[in-house]
Amino acid sequence: MEKYIIEGGRPLFGEVEIQSAKNAVLPLLAAAVLTDERIVIHKCPRIADVLNMVGILGELGCSTKFEGNDLVIDSADAANHEIPSSLAKELRSSVFMLGSVVSRFGRARIAYPGGCDIGLRPIDLHLNGLRRLGVCVSEGGGYIDCSCDKIEGAEVVLDFPSVGATENIILAAAKAKGTTVIRNAAKEPEIVDLQNFINRMGGKIFGAGTATVRIDGVKKLGGTEYTPVSDRIEAGTFLIASAMCGGEVSLKNADADNLSFLLHKLREISCKINTKNDKIYIRSGRRLSPKLVETSPYPGFPTDLQAPMTALACICEGSTVIVENLFETRFKHVPELIRMGADVTVRGRSAFVRGVGSLKGADVVAGDLRGGAALTLAAISAEGLSTVTDLSHIDRGYSDFEYKLRGLGARIRRVRI
Ligand code: EPZ
Repeated sequence: MEKYIIEGGRPLFGEVEIQSAKNAVLPLLAAAVLTDERIVIHKCPRIADVLNMVGILGELGCSTKFEGNDLVIDSADAANHEIPSSLAKELRSSVFMLGSVVSRFGRARIAYPGGCDIGLRPIDLHLNGLRRLGVCVSEGGGYIDCSCDKIEGAEVVLDFPSVGATENIILAAAKAKGTTVIRNAAKEPEIVDLQNFINRMGGKIFGAGTATVRIDGVKKLGGTEYTPVSDRIEAGTFLIASAMCGGEVSLKNADADNLSFLLHKLREISCKINTKNDKIYIRSGRRLSPKLVETSPYPGFPTDLQAPMTALACICEGSTVIVENLFETRFKHVPELIRMGADVTVRGRSAFVRGVGSLKGADVVAGDLRGGAALTLAAISAEGLSTVTDLSHIDRGYSDFEYKLRGLGARIRRVRI
């Protein structure tokens, strides 16, 4: 196991380059199974979730290799339709292999997916969506089995705009017979990226980014090269780090349009923010409390930035109510923040934060990906020495996290324990 040792209390200055979006790359890797031609994903982050997904592709018989920052995938020899539980339970995104694998082979077998322990995370919307497309889905013994002679396009109405379910249905429908229309689809930028990627392969998908996505099934998808959208959650994490620590930071390869709600909140607490092309500049201000932060599906406040925002609220002037509307247990970082001197009370899906001047260094433990990032930000802003343990959570979604923070002036180092 590894931990960070952090000497907090220093402002951040400088520029940081944002990685390609984890939650865009993962569905693109699933889409690579839809063709037997060569796929190249440029600027592919070597984070644990991506490496696990690459492992799943290998189990299916795809050949994969990194050439510098490019990931090259060749699925010509893919022949296995079963994803081993050892890999499936490592990450949530294994579940949307169902759509692409059953499309490719007519069959798919996968153990229930893993991922961050932030709630029940059911997959009923995924499975019912596949059933609407004519896929026979059975569950038992911890496995999901799918089979279908020919996927038929249909109308699929989602009870909730689920990101993964929207992606799974797009993947299954891309080569279906006829047209599929997804209503109440998720509108996240990563879904637009999946649409653009599959259309580059020869697909016919329209409307991603809106609540209605239309997929005209095609007979064949070819190879392509693609650079994924930048990671709005990593960018938001560094913006919040800057707001917490003080100083001036610029983000490169960032897309302000995909972060408008966070930028609105940061301006509300008196940060000065400018954007130009693929850059975002932030200078922190007095940190006036944002009063209310409610997570909601895109384009609302992203649930993946709730934990970092809660850490920021802990050192704002005044009180903030944080409401987590998407996941049932996404406040595991709060008890650790309290160990650092934060004043937070959680009731159900709401956290009531009373701002304190600053946090004090402490030994804290990461409980999930974004909570671990939040605790790291809290530690680099706190007075004194901290450790953050169980970095495997952070490594799932942030490439070179401590290296990038050190480049901005934070005193942080990783040690093995
Ligand atoms: C994706 O998860 C992201 N993961 C999550 O990011 C992100 O938090 C989430 O979308 C919301 O934006 C990836 O893209 C790999 P959902 P996903 O389906 O697809 C309920 C991170 O930190 N639901 O939109 O699992 C579910 O319980 C991760 O990078 C059902 O009820 O999210 C939740 O309440 C964490 N039935 C809500 O929908 C289903 O079949 C949103 O889930 C599916 C979901």
